[in-house]
Amino acid sequence: MNSHSPFRARSLFRTKNIEQSIKDTEDPEHALRKSLSALDLTVFGVGVVIGTGIFVLTGKVAKQNAGPSVAIAFAVAGVVCALAALCYAEFSSTVPVAGSAYTFSYASLGEFPAWIIGWDLILELALGSAVVAVGWSGYIRSLLDTAGFHLPQWLSGTHDGHFGFDLLAALLVLVLTGILVAGTKLSSRVTNVIVAVKVTVVLIVVFVGAFFVTGANYKPFVPPSEPTGGGGGLTAPLIQLIAGFTPSNFGVMGIFTAAAVVFFAFIGFDVVATAAEETRNPQRDVPRGILGSLAICTVLYIAVSIVVTGMQKYTDLTVDAPLADAFKAVGHPFWAGLISFGAAVGLTSVCMILLLGQTRVLFAMSRDGLLPKGFSKVHPRFGSPYRSTALLGGVVAVVAGFTSIDELAELVNIGTLFAFVVVALGVIILRRTRPDLHRSFRTPLVPWLPIASVLASLWLMLNLPAETWLRFLIWMVLGTILYGAYGHRHSRLDTPGGSPGKG
Ligand code: ALA
Repeated sequence: MNSHSPFRARSLFRTKNIEQSIKDTEDPEHALRKSLSALDLTVFGVGVVIGTGIFVLTGKVAKQNAGPSVAIAFAVAGVVCALAALCYAEFSSTVPVAGSAYTFSYASLGEFPAWIIGWDLILELALGSAVVAVGWSGYIRSLLDTAGFHLPQWLSGTHDGHFGFDLLAALLVLVLTGILVAGTKLSSRVTNVIVAVKVTVVLIVVFVGAFFVTGANYKPFVPPSEPTGGGGGLTAPLIQLIAGFTPSNFGVMGIFTAAAVVFFAFIGFDVVATAAEETRNPQRDVPRGILGSLAICTVLYIAVSIVVTGMQKYTDLTVDAPLADAFKAVGHPFWAGLISFGAAVGLTSVCMILLLGQTRVLFAMSRDGLLPKGFSKVHPRFGSPYRSTALLGGVVAVVAGFTSIDELAELVNIGTLFAFVVVALGVIILRRTRPDLHRSFRTPLVPWLPIASVLASLWLMLNLPAETWLRFLIWMVLGTILYGAYGHRHSRLDTPGGSPGKG
């Protein structure tokens, strides 16, 4: 098959043989160290999942979209993720190779859809880590302010139209990049300590905060729907525009708008699947790691949001540090300081694991020839893909330096939900095309559960603003052009030594 000639539709959908994918991971020059257990993966999952979503977005969403019913929004987003998790778990237990949704799609849907997913995952992982770094920088600045140190405005990021480089966010990304270059084992040890601090702080919010809850703050639990002032147009959720509704906040639709935003708080459980290749027993441990971390986080989020909206009237919650400020509001600045500190520590691990996930996707894409070969070169001593890690860290540091959180979090969400849709479709397709493959974890009720997962993810996507859809489409068009210009011509499936495609 020689497709240096113009595209042929069939070559766009050539699939990578699964046995070849698994064999690739044994090639010593391109092999990652296998050292992670199910517990490591669960900690890894919780490490990336609990972050900006619960520490920052809860306040914004309760105040602007859902009031106390933000707890229901967390439950809705949790259900969408649980459906997706059951699909991810089957896939990752069948194809235990670095690269997550990207690898899965290459084996089931074909090369072009796989490229699109790899490209799309950059939104989730690289952009997600930049967003989290900016959130981290905000918490550190607030702690520094309390201690009497003030960074000049031009080094504090962009606020209210005033431009500034976010020095702390960029520095965080560079330091974490150094740790990742030194190898996964070191980073997972660091992660364990950080996760312990973060979970402790979340539990403090729940158990200490519960003593300051006032029942009256829950009335009304679902505030009545009210039209959005001015705005409308591209900033309204796409579904409200399609259905011809007057764009509004609160009410039942407000819960869904809130769910589409707090979905960010769950991002990362799928990253556990990207570490499959570094897991000792991926068939058993990856599904356990994914489902375990998701269950723990969903329970904690619902508990935190119920407590916080009970401590303070939702209209009074702050948008920058709502959990800490709720404690200040009830007269307990000590707890507030402790929570700010824990949040800052916790966001560090989120940022690091998102970066790690991104390096592994780039690694897998490069190994397949869709990106230049240098990206999959493993360091002889550290066992990490050091070149792609260093390059990625540099780029993300710059993006974090120049980025503000709000719209980007929504772009991260739409990109991730799109990946969920593709993975769920992939489960159905792979069951038909490769029924023979060993699946140590089988998604229940195929095809109905994956279909429900597709519909649920699409529903949340439709509840994101029209402008987010526009940005997402532009990004995808860019990716398609790049595939035509590079990936399609350099794919290993297109060279004599490459693995034969089935499709
Ligand atoms: N789920 C992660 C967070 O909330 C990305 O920050």
